[in-house]
Amino acid sequence: MKAFKTETREDIVKLLKLSDEREIGELFAYADAVRKKEVGDEVHLRAIIEFSNNCVNDCLYCGLRKSRKGIRRYRMSGDEILSSVDNAVSLGYKTVVLQSGDDLSYGADDICRLIEKIKQDFKIAVTLSCGERPYDEYKRMRSSGADRYLLKHETADKELYTKLHPGQSFEQRLTILEWLKELGYQTGSGSMVGLPGQTADNIAEDILLFKKMDIDMIGVGPFIAHEATPLAGSPGGTAEMVLKTLALTRIVTKNTHIPATTALGTIDPMGRQKALKCGANVIMPNLTPQKYRRDYEIYPGKICVSETPDDCYNCVNNMVVAAGRSVAAGLGHRVIKK
Ligand code: 5AD
Ligand code: FES
Repeated sequence: MKAFKTETREDIVKLLKLSDEREIGELFAYADAVRKKEVGDEVHLRAIIEFSNNCVNDCLYCGLRKSRKGIRRYRMSGDEILSSVDNAVSLGYKTVVLQSGDDLSYGADDICRLIEKIKQDFKIAVTLSCGERPYDEYKRMRSSGADRYLLKHETADKELYTKLHPGQSFEQRLTILEWLKELGYQTGSGSMVGLPGQTADNIAEDILLFKKMDIDMIGVGPFIAHEATPLAGSPGGTAEMVLKTLALTRIVTKNTHIPATTALGTIDPMGRQKALKCGANVIMPNLTPQKYRRDYEIYPGKICVSETPDDCYNCVNNMVVAAGRSVAAGLGHRVIKK
């Protein structure tokens, strides 16, 4: 098996620019071998419940941005969320991910109460993905039992980050990621590939930042232009560039958890299957009740909008088996090897 040198930014940029099909295949095979050695053949399933599509931010790329009109905004009640969690547990999921826009009216107290109830009733891991909040809120949610938190850095290029996120700061994003680690969360970050103005150098910086910050979970997907945002009409990321980024992320970060993202499955019907073969070891199926799915439209064409939680559960189980892998039985915490 051919090994690849990925120590420096230049090494990574060179590999991101590979165009020879055979060499790309060798890179993917090497990433797959690193995945097998570092995290084994198990695939972890994380059930995502998109509990609110309200957002105080105005990210240029996102279909949930606050200035977008003509979208039905929803907020699931505590009971609705708990009933979705119950459904996830019945199906066999060992992790639920409570995800929303930056909906600060869903306060830490509400979220803490949910976490406590879930932790009391079930032996599952709870991941939160509900945006930028004050330190104290992260602390309380962690004390209530939250295990993990996802907050993508989106792009490691400060200038690009600033353009895409009016009113937000790149430094604050990184500070929050440090807080999350210090509070003992398994911490997730991630980035988009193919953002307008993004270069191969920028993508290499994303990968090096995951490594430098010792991020536990890394979600990388293509940027997909949404017609109701200021980035309407921009070309999106390609599946090939996303797969190269995933492969290099696996090689560089070794034993992290890397999902085959829904966004990749959206631009390529076989995207998630391909991702499982070049570094990915996680799938995050949608558990949002059917009636809300259409409204959580971060980008257009999102898959699984007309499916139910049961459909997605069966679909991803089949996908894992077809890839010659097995669905993990445990909670799927990141194992830190010293
Ligand atoms: N295309 C692809 N991914 C997007 N996200 C938001 N908008 C888009 C888009 N237009 C991703 C961001 C965010 C996650 C919830 O969805 O990475 O962190
Ligand atoms: Fe939803 Fe395949 S994961 S239908």
